[in-house]
Amino acid sequence: MCAYRMCVSDVRIGEEHARHDRQMSSRPSPTVRPFLKWAGNKYRILAQIKAALPPGRRLIEPFVGSGAVFANTDYARYLLADVNPDLIAVYRHLQEEGPRFIEHCRSYFTARNNTGAAYYDLRARFNQTADVREKAALFVYLNRHCYNGLCRYNAGGGFNVPFGRYRKPYFPAAEMAHFHERARRAEFVCAAFGETMAGAQPGDAVYCDPPYAPLSATANFTSYSVQPFGVDEQRALARLAEKLAGGGVTVIISNHDTEFTRREYAQARIVAFDVLRTISCDGSRRGAVGELLAIFDGDGAPRPAR
Ligand SMILES: C[S@@+](CC[C@H](N)C(=O)[O-])C[C@H]1O[C@@H](n2cnc3c(N)ncnc32)[C@H](O)[C@@H]1O
Repeated sequence: MCAYRMCVSDVRIGEEHARHDRQMSSRPSPTVRPFLKWAGNKYRILAQIKAALPPGRRLIEPFVGSGAVFANTDYARYLLADVNPDLIAVYRHLQEEGPRFIEHCRSYFTARNNTGAAYYDLRARFNQTADVREKAALFVYLNRHCYNGLCRYNAGGGFNVPFGRYRKPYFPAAEMAHFHERARRAEFVCAAFGETMAGAQPGDAVYCDPPYAPLSATANFTSYSVQPFGVDEQRALARLAEKLAGGGVTVIISNHDTEFTRREYAQARIVAFDVLRTISCDGSRRGAVGELLAIFDGDGAPRPAR
């Protein structure tokens, strides 16, 4: 499947990627899909991200989401954080229990549980239960059975995505096993990005994938948690990236390529490319959307050759 429209920057990125692969390993490994469906996941632009990532002893992802970058890179250590506590709880259970937790999650993926009535019962259970293990397994069930794999909460913090009506939802056993295997190198933290980034040290690399800045003033906003992520947060993240770079830590931010993001990332090197994606709410229209990686090179950190 060709996910991208080729453009000049794709060629440039392709060259960087090849160089990076040669540096990191003689054989590039195949890509692994995240086990959770996640709006804005970066599976389709992994090549561009991997080409831009610097070497380092630890990769910090303050907006880990479904962990597409974590699952497909090879750092010695990872600090993986997100503000969504339900997401981090799933990762911790998987990290601690591995196959036992995978089988527990699988037990919810039955034909009986793939009806609207069962879905809404299990969604209510998710919102009410005090059993953290059950809640984590139900999060995986909801992710694969809800509409479009969305993660959305009401003002009271209740998960409120409707039933997805899939014929036979896929159970991602292999993807979970891969995640579990790699989680030995990882620390999972539920925190807002400022707190996570405050712990970065020289020698770390930071990859930030915040909720997208809107393409236009009227564009829809994706909500992953009860906390909003608006202009102030986008700006605060850019300033923090500048500060960390000044202290020797390279920070990369993914975002839409807009006047706003170009202005906020004026201190960074920009790698721009087009991504073909669904741009209407009902999934009926696809189009090329401009994306960018803003690379804030840490002072003294190794820079990719140009
Ligand atoms: C675009 S998604 C990240 C996708 C991820 N790179 C992937 O491949 O799946 C953005 C993530 O930021 C998280 N988030 C939103 N606001 C946050 C904040 N203030 N601090 C940390 N994480 C936040 C959301 O919960 C969501 O998982």
